[in-house]
Amino acid sequence: MKPLRVAMIGYGFMGRAHSNAYKRLTDFFAVQHKPVLQVACARNADRAKAFADNWGYTRVETDWKKAVTADDVDLVDICTPNDTHQEIAIAAAEAGKMIVCEKPLARTVAEAQPMVDAVEKAGVPNMVWFNYRRVPAITLAKQLIDEGRIGRAFHFRSNFLQDWTISPDVPQGGAGLWRLDAAAAGSGVTGDLLAHNIDTAMWLNGPITRVVAKTETFVKERMHSLTGKVEKVGIDDACAFLCEFANGSLGVFESTRYARGHKALKTLELNGSEGSLSFNLEEMEYLDFFEYTQKENGASTPSHLRGWRRIHVTNGEHPYMDKYWVPGLVIGYEHSFLNALADFVAGVEAGKPVQPDFRSALQTQKVCEAVLQSAATGAWVETGATA
Ligand SMILES: NC(=O)c1ccc[n+]([C@@H]2O[C@H](COP(=O)([O-])OP(=O)(O)OC[C@H]3O[C@@H](n4cnc5c(N)ncnc54)[C@H](O)[C@@H]3O)[C@@H](O)[C@H]2O)c1
Repeated sequence: MKPLRVAMIGYGFMGRAHSNAYKRLTDFFAVQHKPVLQVACARNADRAKAFADNWGYTRVETDWKKAVTADDVDLVDICTPNDTHQEIAIAAAEAGKMIVCEKPLARTVAEAQPMVDAVEKAGVPNMVWFNYRRVPAITLAKQLIDEGRIGRAFHFRSNFLQDWTISPDVPQGGAGLWRLDAAAAGSGVTGDLLAHNIDTAMWLNGPITRVVAKTETFVKERMHSLTGKVEKVGIDDACAFLCEFANGSLGVFESTRYARGHKALKTLELNGSEGSLSFNLEEMEYLDFFEYTQKENGASTPSHLRGWRRIHVTNGEHPYMDKYWVPGLVIGYEHSFLNALADFVAGVEAGKPVQPDFRSALQTQKVCEAVLQSAATGAWVETGATA
């Protein structure tokens, strides 16, 4: 087995989720590269050291520029706030490193495009961690669509609902709260939450071509942790948009951090001429499927048998599940990162770029930007997103 030496930039939520994936990869997947947790990078040396010791990283860097150019690093993993992605990714590409970057790719399309150019110019393998594609039930949804079981798509609807910023006392900016600071995050729920839903939607149902959106910022001013002053809030707290897909279907998306009682209610539903699909992250081991036309014989399901079928996505025949336990036993959130990493490494070994790469994530960025532009003007906006 060959080593795959990782530089982890950032030790927060995603730094932990990805470190777990690197540690478990070769336990579950028959790939030829074994990740080595080589460098943990963060600005605070003590905290970086504590993280490195906990997860088993060989050494620590406090300057990401040193980490991404180090000779003992093969792969740079960008797990820092959105405003840092571009600079780190371009430097890593110029250093010839493989790059896996957290979503959203950047804050804006203008910021994301040079990242795509840099990885393509350098010819380095790259991926963006839109991990929900790798939840087995969602991957199974893709399989059922590709098998023609949904037919002509009519409707795609998708939500991502949270409730953690309702209190006006939650500050913006700084550790953990950079998501509320437009300068660091780029946008609010649109880039943070809906980017996931948009990536999944375009993977399942093709490009989103036009959008019309409404955003709201319910709490207009918050204390800024870095300046100590009460400052205007620049992010969207909530966003709802309508859209058209290139295949002629209609989409409805909603995201908010003000849905009292919901922590991460992430759903999708697709309705087509021959069937429908429905997924809810709170019951992530299930995919609900309504079969109107039976693919195998072309006949309609007899009307007295029609109904939603709840598929427990735990069989060896289901995506990724032959790598884990016996049928009936579930895997969890963390496995979506492990599955994504396995696909990335297998893609590198096969010489086949894995999706979503930076170019694919740029399409999601274009939709996010069109949504925010539409919310600002009230007009329909063409996204320019392609397959
Ligand atoms: N795929 C997903 O489901 C998912 C979930 C959460 C976050 N994310 C994305 O992951 C990224 C990080 O989010 P998070 O929740 O892990 O954030 P976090 O606040 O938990 O961690 C961010 C880390 O970056 C470090 N950092 C900040 N600036 C740095 C710099 N200049 N140099 C080195 N380290 C620096 C911080 O010290 C911290 O360790 C964001 O882009 C976010 O959108 C993705």
